Amino acid sequence: MLPSLVDHYSLRSHNTFGFDVSARYAMKLESEAQVAALARDERIANLARLVLGGGSNVVLTRDFDGVAFLVGIPGKRVIGEDGDAYLVEAGAGENWHDFVAWTLAQGMPGLENLALIPGTVGAAPIQNIGAYGLEMGERFERLRAIELATGVAHDFDRDACAFGYRDSFFKRAGRGRFVITSVVFRLSKAWTPRADYADVARALEGSGKRDAQAIFDAVVAVRRAKLPDWTVLGNAGSFFKNPVVSAEAFETLRSREPGVVSYRQPDGSAKLAAGWLIDRCGWKGRSIGGAAVHDRQALVLVNRGGATGAQVLELAAAIRRDVLARFDVELEAEPVCL
Ligand code: EPU
Repeated sequence: MLPSLVDHYSLRSHNTFGFDVSARYAMKLESEAQVAALARDERIANLARLVLGGGSNVVLTRDFDGVAFLVGIPGKRVIGEDGDAYLVEAGAGENWHDFVAWTLAQGMPGLENLALIPGTVGAAPIQNIGAYGLEMGERFERLRAIELATGVAHDFDRDACAFGYRDSFFKRAGRGRFVITSVVFRLSKAWTPRADYADVARALEGSGKRDAQAIFDAVVAVRRAKLPDWTVLGNAGSFFKNPVVSAEAFETLRSREPGVVSYRQPDGSAKLAAGWLIDRCGWKGRSIGGAAVHDRQALVLVNRGGATGAQVLELAAAIRRDVLARFDVELEAEPVCL
């Protein structure tokens, strides 16, 4: 059965900024077969396409004159194990945080540092979500994606996904060409805690425990304290990537700004805390229309109510100009802007 095509569909509850834009058409996709059938669906043959999971990494600036695919493919299961690890699979439409909680409930830790990240399982590989010392790519086994033009299913292993820092094949050459339908994770039986990140280590001290559930709880507590809840205050998490600069550029910057927060990379370059740079330019709490810089984390832009995507982009552009002028550092947006 073909999924129904809904006319003039509001995307307000499908983007975590809560922007009130609509799609000319929308289609809810609940199985891999439905996604594969899109290539032969005459109703949408000539329409522009937009694939949405949880909408937690997009800035929708205007109504979309095409068809929005709302990926709601369900399912969570343990598909196998070998001597070293469990393999667990989830449908692309599963909520990421619920999936992480479910893996812990199965006694299969490994994803706990990524608790409470908004969005769906299918969106997680696109920007290789990461937090508190772990990137999703480290626990990834493979994914299945349907090529929109042909309806053919492809399996992508870790190399084919070309994961980088908040980056993958699906943000580059694969952009707009595939719908991810399911993802498989490899969760090692030899679990070790990843609890070096200062905020998490501090939160753990109080509990005196270092098991996976304690890390999960600590991460949830840290995120709740620092990051706004999108259901209360619309946002898309970090708005900019932490920029990486050469060792030379870093030394020049540090001589002028000894307090700059940075993380040395293995090749000698330095990843700078963009939140610190933005904060130092005095942006915390400032706004353009309803779009504002969060008052507890300068890297997060929020919708205080009634903001438009255009206002968020205007605010982002002003921040980018200031950071460039003051530190000679270019900031790159993390979310996809449409
Ligand atoms: N800082 C400030 N002022 C601010 C914000 C940050 O001075 O307003 C400084 C602080 O010194 C802080 C440092 O910047 O110690 C780093 O801040 P934080 O620990 O909050 O992490 P982040 O680098 O701002 C990154 C990720 C987050 C992830 C956290 C924890 C990116 C773009 N962001 O933020 O990911 O949760 O680390 O691992 O890499 C996301 O991608 O949406 C996201 C929330």
